[in-house]
Amino acid sequence: MSSGEITYVTVGPVSAIPPGMGRAYHVGPHRIAVFRTRSGRVFATAQRCPHRGGPLADGMLVGEQVVCPLHAFRFDLHTGQCEQSHVCPVQTYPVDITPEGWIRIGIPTRFRSSEDVSPLLTSC
Ligand code: FES
Repeated sequence: MSSGEITYVTVGPVSAIPPGMGRAYHVGPHRIAVFRTRSGRVFATAQRCPHRGGPLADGMLVGEQVVCPLHAFRFDLHTGQCEQSHVCPVQTYPVDITPEGWIRIGIPTRFRSSEDVSPLLTSC
């Protein structure tokens, strides 16, 4: 389903992600990290940490922040901002949960390939 410049893609059920954990999904050419907080909220970011490429879905959640497993920098799951001022924010994606409990990730249609996304992650 498409809404303006965003296309929503179903990746799986919320129940597939234990509370406080993340999972990585492929959405076309994109690697997306999806997180379920202990309070039950679901967020999505790029899987690749903008610092040195760490796998964010493997990171620990602290409230509504993810801690990168490589160097422990924290990223806000709402904004993608890193607590370290010299590190680029991580790409975030809108999330929709269906009444049946399926996770849908909003992918900007202008990002047609992973190459289109990479410069945004490394140019700040
Ligand atoms: S690779 Fe993520 S903080 Fe360094």
